[in-house]
Amino acid sequence: MKIAVLPGDGIGTEIVAEAVKVLNVLELPFEMETALVGGAAYEAHGHPLPDSTLNLARAADAILFGAVGDWKYDTLDRPLRPEQAILGLRKNLGLFANFRPAICYEELVGASSLKPELISGLDILIIRELTGDIYFGQPRGRRIATDGHFPGAEEAFDTMRYSRPEIERIAHVAFQAAQKRSKRVTSVDKANVLETFQFWKDVVTEVSKQYPDVALDHMYVDNAAMQLVKEPKRFDVVVTGNMFGDILSDEASMLTGSIGMLPSASLNSQNQGLYEPSHGSAPDIAGKNIANPLATILSAAMMLRFSLNQPQAADRIESAVKAVLASGVRTTDIWSQGTTKVSTREMGDAVVAAITKTITKG
Ligand code: IPM
Ligand code: MG
Repeated sequence: MKIAVLPGDGIGTEIVAEAVKVLNVLELPFEMETALVGGAAYEAHGHPLPDSTLNLARAADAILFGAVGDWKYDTLDRPLRPEQAILGLRKNLGLFANFRPAICYEELVGASSLKPELISGLDILIIRELTGDIYFGQPRGRRIATDGHFPGAEEAFDTMRYSRPEIERIAHVAFQAAQKRSKRVTSVDKANVLETFQFWKDVVTEVSKQYPDVALDHMYVDNAAMQLVKEPKRFDVVVTGNMFGDILSDEASMLTGSIGMLPSASLNSQNQGLYEPSHGSAPDIAGKNIANPLATILSAAMMLRFSLNQPQAADRIESAVKAVLASGVRTTDIWSQGTTKVSTREMGDAVVAAITKTITKG
């Protein structure tokens, strides 16, 4: 089993190191190879996604990714910015299906800014389409002009588009995921204003006819944003486009107590996957050993389950995380009165210790 490890920038290197530590303790036959990506790759090779990194990712069974980006790259031409590395990986590997589960651990009910009764028992699965939409339309603006033709542009635009096959395949993913859960899908769109999302709604509705056992409802994205904080437990599987999924998954993460808790899996049609925390590189706290590594550790568990066919190892990691939270160990972002504040590395160590305990117990 080959894992490409791409830590990236900012807290990426710190949190990925903890996930690697956790993977190593499982004593499975992994081959892990690390490469530079994002700003770190730009510094070393002049490009955020060098061919060597892309080829390593292509050849791997799974990719463990940290985060990319730093404000210091804000003035670079867009194709050279760190974010292009993750977008390039998603596009080149065809990772169209992004799973972002938002699960509220009972121990963290108090860490959310919402009332406990609203989020206790929360378990939402956001399925975000990841290789289409306005993210991969045609951008035009000042910064993209490397040839000097737009020196004082008066406008900028990005085109929003979806093709029928792109919507169909993500709809199938959502309905099949719902069949394994509570058999409800909410499709989020902006069909009242955008042609692209009227089309989205129509195609999702057509696909739903193949899944008579799953109930489908539609919601406008502004309403969905509101309902997520008003009555989050009304949702089960949420399927939406790339842009709305980006925004709603950040919102949903806070229902779970911290964005530092939210893992994600991005799969292609061969079940090859990239696994990354849903959060970013957080340059403001980078290098301080305070970031929460749990989203990345939980992403590693998703990797074992979805791409490496090791569901028991995945369970072991997830149980260890629950045990650690139950023991009151917390990084700063989820800390509350009466719990023990630990560093990034100490959190990783605590998960490793919890796994070792279950291994010795048999
Ligand atoms: C995410 C991030 C990325 C996105 C950025 C870093 C390009 O916000 O994975 O949610 O917008 O998709
Ligand atoms: Mg995002």
